[in-house]
Amino acid sequence: MSQDNATSAQSNGDALENLLHEGRQFPPSDEFAANAVAKPSVYDEAASEGTEFWARQARELLSWEQDFTQTLDWSEAPFAKWFIGGKVNAAYNALDRHVEAGNGSRVAINFEGEPGDVRRITYAELTDQVKQAANTIESLGVKKGDRVAIYLPMIPEAVISMLACARIGAVHSVVFGGFSSDALRNRIDDAEAKLVITADGTYRRGKPSPLKNAVDDALADGNSTVEHVLVVKRNEETVEWTEGRDLWWDKTVATASKDHTAVGHDSEHPLYVLYTSGTTGKPKGILHTTGGYLTQCAYTHKNVFDLKPETDVYWCAADIGWVTGHSYITYGPLLNGASIVMYEGTPDTPHQGRWWEIVEKYKVSILYAAPTAIRTMMKWGEDIPAKYNLSSLRVLGSVGEPINPEAWMWYRRVIGSDATPIVDTWWQTETGAIMISPLPGVTAAKPGAAQVPLPGINVDVVDESGESVPNGSGGYLVVREPWPAMLRGIWGDPERYKETYWSRFKDMYFAGDGAKRDEDGDIWLLGRVDDVMNISGHRLSTTEIESALVSHPSVAESAVVGATDETTGQAVVAFVILRGEAAEKVAAQGEDADTSEVVAELRNHVGKEIGPIAKPRQILVVSELPKTRSGKIMRRLLKDVAENREVGDVSTLADSSVMNQITQGLKK
Ligand code: WT7
Repeated sequence: MSQDNATSAQSNGDALENLLHEGRQFPPSDEFAANAVAKPSVYDEAASEGTEFWARQARELLSWEQDFTQTLDWSEAPFAKWFIGGKVNAAYNALDRHVEAGNGSRVAINFEGEPGDVRRITYAELTDQVKQAANTIESLGVKKGDRVAIYLPMIPEAVISMLACARIGAVHSVVFGGFSSDALRNRIDDAEAKLVITADGTYRRGKPSPLKNAVDDALADGNSTVEHVLVVKRNEETVEWTEGRDLWWDKTVATASKDHTAVGHDSEHPLYVLYTSGTTGKPKGILHTTGGYLTQCAYTHKNVFDLKPETDVYWCAADIGWVTGHSYITYGPLLNGASIVMYEGTPDTPHQGRWWEIVEKYKVSILYAAPTAIRTMMKWGEDIPAKYNLSSLRVLGSVGEPINPEAWMWYRRVIGSDATPIVDTWWQTETGAIMISPLPGVTAAKPGAAQVPLPGINVDVVDESGESVPNGSGGYLVVREPWPAMLRGIWGDPERYKETYWSRFKDMYFAGDGAKRDEDGDIWLLGRVDDVMNISGHRLSTTEIESALVSHPSVAESAVVGATDETTGQAVVAFVILRGEAAEKVAAQGEDADTSEVVAELRNHVGKEIGPIAKPRQILVVSELPKTRSGKIMRRLLKDVAENREVGDVSTLADSSVMNQITQGLKK
């Protein structure tokens, strides 16, 4: 992390300073507290039990085929092993055992398609379907340890595919359906996937939208490790077909045998790889394994959301392509036997009340969503949710980025009848499960703060030298002790794992976030301190987008910053120096050059290289970029421009007139 970025995080921190004097507190009602899953005593229990706290959770929350003999092996730190010697099957725990316990007729998934089609799948049915998928995947030659790429829309087959892989010990790698064919191919290559599971398409904003074509493009050169493509029929549009490679789900899985016995896999057997953006151009394959991950998913889902599986209806509005969808659509809820809602589409199709219509229809009692969605709904106006009966809601969750106090208050007042606890949950793809969050029946919540590390989690805020900061000060968020769901590494790159997370501070995991402790010792997250941006709760790296831009023949150089955005938290703003014909054309037009054409082309180019979410909100054509004497781009100054601020200190620039040129140029 550079000093430059640290400084810019600090200035964000200053802007947030006033939040830290937030006086409002919202304790749970007496009734909520009395009936809550998690009681105040849990913090003391975890503190006195140490890692045995997690051993107890592992045994209480999961059914082990073979019990473990050791809780934690940290002798090869930072490579952790949890619940050593144990054997456990993720799919058996999420499915079969609920059926065996007599809960087979409970609804596992309430699926709501964007066009309004519905599917209600019970635990018994879901178990059968996962067994069929497991048989099919095995018949395609996929063995324990092989990788399977899952590139699906938000349909039940996404959950079924993940659990089918987990059942046979194949490692799934879900790729967000909004990613481009290039991004998909990079991930397939890095994971060396043998099988891709996809769909003909999905529905987006009322229209069929294709998906399989991206798989065809990704595999067009015939040179990948992929042997088969399994295709779910979703939107009935015609697709290209490669004989011998492609298979229809409904001709294979749907007719496969429903007999499949789950065997326990080693506690440290890889469960999945999920790619996420880091500070360099190449996404990292975050590796999660079985026993520890499942334990912390189940524990946090039950305690943070106060889950009562017999009566609650739980809806996590994330996409399965992100870690939130892994831990809190698939694993956590199904391990706990919850009834979930799964929605395929966008929140404004066919109207802006769609979410609240779904809450009313399914009597959703727990809703887990991102601040960017809440802010969008705020913008649409509170008369929209007011048309629906939201009285079933009793816990609201927030995830993905800091939630600003206005959005928090709106969420509670308008959606939560001014009464529901809100849990602001901080975690990451790497942490696997929630790390910092209020407990809804215990914590007096403060609007905008994740506040307290969960029981059994040792989080701290430290200064540059790794010392804990006193209350009332800011620094860097670290984790001091290994935790069950922690990443076990970066796929194929153990060195990068050590370097990225364990080299900044000795013996501590560095999360990449800035944080402060308020006067009560509560933790406030202040955003990333590295080159990672957070757009609508999705991670993108500045370098990843810069690489995409310079791969275009019209771009000589580029610098990307995340600028504060009212709705999406941050938005991508790119500065580019043109070259070749495009540069000549703009230069020939002189001072008032019209750059709209090249800008539109570059936006589309980024969309094609990475995916629509990465398209810059703004691309500014400039003639120079601000650099230090050592040649490092000073993004802090560009951020000032992107956020319409007075440009900060330029004294370390190699050429201090560059910022003048940029601001003058942009004013025209
Ligand atoms: C980054 C991780 C965790 C699943 C979704 C994102 C930011 C996440 C919060 C929160 C403030 C948050 C952090 C973190 N973040 N939750 N409640 N308050 N910031 O997972 O893509 O791995 O991103 O999201 O900056 O480092 P991810």
